[in-house]
Parts: sequence; C-alpha cells; structure tokens
Amino acid sequence: MFSGSQRLAFAGPQRLVRSTRLSQHAPLGFLLTTRVRFSVRLQSTSAATAIEKKADTISVLGTTYSTDEWTNATPTILEKTGRNLLHQHSHPLAILKELIFKEFPEFAHYDNISPVVSTYQNFDSLGFSEDHPGRSATDTYYINQKTLLRTHTSAHQLQLLAAGKQKDDQLLRLAKNRAAAPMNERFLVAADVYRRDEIDASHYPVFHQMEGVCTFSRAEVQDQLRQKALKDAGSGAHGAEAAASQQEGSVAKLSDTTEIGKDNPVQPEHTAEEAAFVAEHMKKMMNNMVVQILTKAVAAQKSTNDVASKEGRPEFPVRWIDAFFPFTSPSWEMEVFFQGEWLEICGCGVMKQSIMDDAGMSDRIGWAFGFGLERLAMLLFGIPDIRLFWSTDPRFTDQFAPDRINTFKQFSRHPACTKDVSFWLPTSDEFHENDLMDLVRETAGDLVEGVKLIDSFAHPKSGKTSRCYRINYCSMDRNVTNEEINAIQDHVRELMVNRLGVALR
Ligand code: DAH
Repeated sequence: MFSGSQRLAFAGPQRLVRSTRLSQHAPLGFLLTTRVRFSVRLQSTSAATAIEKKADTISVLGTTYSTDEWTNATPTILEKTGRNLLHQHSHPLAILKELIFKEFPEFAHYDNISPVVSTYQNFDSLGFSEDHPGRSATDTYYINQKTLLRTHTSAHQLQLLAAGKQKDDQLLRLAKNRAAAPMNERFLVAADVYRRDEIDASHYPVFHQMEGVCTFSRAEVQDQLRQKALKDAGSGAHGAEAAASQQEGSVAKLSDTTEIGKDNPVQPEHTAEEAAFVAEHMKKMMNNMVVQILTKAVAAQKSTNDVASKEGRPEFPVRWIDAFFPFTSPSWEMEVFFQGEWLEICGCGVMKQSIMDDAGMSDRIGWAFGFGLERLAMLLFGIPDIRLFWSTDPRFTDQFAPDRINTFKQFSRHPACTKDVSFWLPTSDEFHENDLMDLVRETAGDLVEGVKLIDSFAHPKSGKTSRCYRINYCSMDRNVTNEEINAIQDHVRELMVNRLGVALR
C-alpha cells in the first residue's frame, strides 16, 4: 500500500512482492532468528550484556507489561506513544482528523484507543495467516509475544463491532458522538500506528491512520436494491453518467476502471448485487471525502501563493486500483497523482463476512477503509518531510490553527552532518536493515534524517559481504556540534558490533 511510513503494508502476497518494504527483508524463514538474537548475544558477550540487558517489564502509557524474547519496542518508539499529535488542536494531523470526522457525521468517532493491542486483534481477528510477513519481528514492534504496538487501525474493526453488539459501555463511551451510531454500526478510528521501517523524508516508524467501517442490515440492502431497480427501469439512468456529473468542475479527476470479478472476487457469502451495492456506497463516500480535501488543499495553495490569477485550475488525478487484503474482498486502493508520482492514500474493500460473524452480526454486511493521514496531510498542507509532524519547533507548530487549512512555509534548515559506517556482515547471523534503523533512531532520536545504503560488495576470496551506510544527521530545531554527532556515531558503531554482530571496517 503506502510507500514509506504511509504504506499500508498488509496487502496480500501480490502487493507484498511489489512493496519496497519487503524487498529489503530476508525470506520469511529467516525471520525467527532475529527474534532470538538478542538473548543469544546476551549469553555470549559479556560487554553486550551490560548494554543490552532487557528489563523484565516495560511500561506503556501507564500500564506495565512483562517482556520476553519477542520484545523489540525501543524506548524511542515507546516515548512516541505519549505524544498524542491527534489531540493537539493546532497540529496538521489533528486538523485533518477533524475535517474527516466532519465529512462523516453519521459515524461514531474514536480517537483515543490505546496503541497496545493483542496479536489476535492486529492479525488473527482479520484473517492474517500464521506465516504472514506482517507478523515478523523485523516489521512490527512487539511488547511481548502476545502484545504489540498496533501496526494498523484495522486492529480495532472486530473489537468495535462486537462492542456495539454487546453494548460494551467501556468501549462505546470512548466514542465522541455515540448517538450517531449507538451500536457502532458505522465508525471511524483515528490513531497512531507503528511499523519498523527505513529512515528518510517519507518514512517514519510511527504514523497515523483513519479507519472507517460502515455496515448495513442485509435486509436493508435488499430493499434498496429493489427500489433502485424500479427507479432505473423508470428513468433509464446510468451510474456512469451520475459519476461524471459528480466530477464536473472538481479539482480531482477520478478514474475507476476496476471490475469485480475472478481476480477481485465477491465473497461466497454475498450476492454480486449486494457486494456491488456496498462497494458503490463506499467509493462514493470516499470520493466525496477526497474531493473535499483536495479542494481545500488547492484553495490554500491559491491564497498562499497568490496564484488565483493563473490560468486553469490545478487538477489532481485520483484513481482506483485492485488490491488484496486478508480482511476484505473485493479490495481496492486509492491513489492520487502528486508531484510526478502516484501516491497510495488508502486501502479498502467489502469486509470479510467472517468478521461480521465473529462480531455476532451475520445479518449485516459492510465496507471498510484505512487512510494514511500523513500522506493526506502532506498534500493538504504542503508539508515536504514526514519528520516535521513530530517537530516542536515553533517555526513549524505556529503555522497552523484549528479549522484552518494553509500551505506550510518552509523555514531554513539547520546544517546537516554526514557520517559513513562500513562493516562486514555477520557470517553466523542474519542481518536485517530495520535492526540497524532502530538502533540508529534509538541512539540519535530525531537528529537522524536518513540512513542509506551506499555500497555493498562481496569479498571475492572470503565471500564475506561488506556494506556501507551513510547516516545523515540534522536537527529540525537547532544547530548540532560536530562533537555531539561524533559521540552519537561512536555509540552507534559500538552498538552495531555488540548488538548486530557486524565487524566494523
Ligand atoms: N489496514 C490496512 C493497512 O494498513 C489498510 C486497509 C485496507 C484498511 C483495507 C481497511 C481496508 O479497512 O478495508 O495496510
């Protein structure tokens, strides 16, 4: 799905092959070695023990969890769970969240559900296979074997539907406008999500998503289908014409050439008409929302850059493409063409009926979507670097105000400082790039702007592999001294030896 932190990486096998996210990882069979590596190294290296000794418990948002050999959530990441960007009213992500909530007044709105979830919620409840790569410790931050930092807001689908059915007041009272959908038959969840990832301007290990779920009673769907058939027979109206008129004069140019069929099938539990009805309802709502957002983005750009006099209006092509997710069928993604490339902004589809069954709602059918908020916010506010969302620099934070969409004005960057590190890969252990990413981030925090592989070769005689990574340090808020960066770099190098088992060159 999204590239970088925006990527909704839990697409099915086809998508995973395409995803750059996975291309950097070893085949799944190797992943288990990563999980046990910490403890193995602890026993074998006494110097490492002093640095690496893992606490028996860790605390996340005031709750204590026991750790085990799966634990890989770093202090830097855990600190992010308390930042609550979605609750800072002047923050671009919070402004966008409110904007989307307003577009869906008939949905219950959640923005305060803890990021700590069970593996059941995050994976099993959605039908992820036991060996799905998304479960691997190289991609996911585990608190312990059964508990993790949610990797997507879909983790709450079943839980919230079941809460509605069972009138579970503890959960239902978290909704902001409970009366709009008292049994959670329609809801939105805005939340922070966590994925181990590479580091650059569009990748960050914490980002935000907006999940939308809308269910209908199947009897109601039948009723609507009958009424529609009667109306169509009377007027001869065609969906395509209606869609075309919807687009007229819009800043977004929508295209959808996807078809429900054998490659993107209707579930056996549904009729073709039911699935088409639900899909059409979903796409209409999503199109409307995206058009609203893009229209606001264009208006903001115009007032900021004073381009109102320019000829023609800017246009954002938006397209639907087929997709695969374990928890929907048929499934789609929506992409926006922005600055020369197609940006994936969300995944969606007709919810697997097994989720409805597990929630005790077999008599209902539904759709679900998951939007990546950073990507939409970057479009909406013209924010060029994903790290900026975490900045506390007033030159960033003071630019935004609740209910206002304006284009971000770039401020001068502080000088960057670049350090290379070259090393031989361990011969006895797997090396996973995301372990290096976390290690650097843990040591340098947000001072690290990017980590890039710049060289790799195999020694012709020894067969050993050498790699060189370039680490780019740059503060968003201040000048850093060379001594400060040298000290960080020394610490990174030391941890690479002790923790990742590499031999520095
Ligand atoms: N949870 C998915 C991800 O992060 C995105 C997604 C896809 C959400 C399809 C949905 C959906 O609700 O129906 O990769």
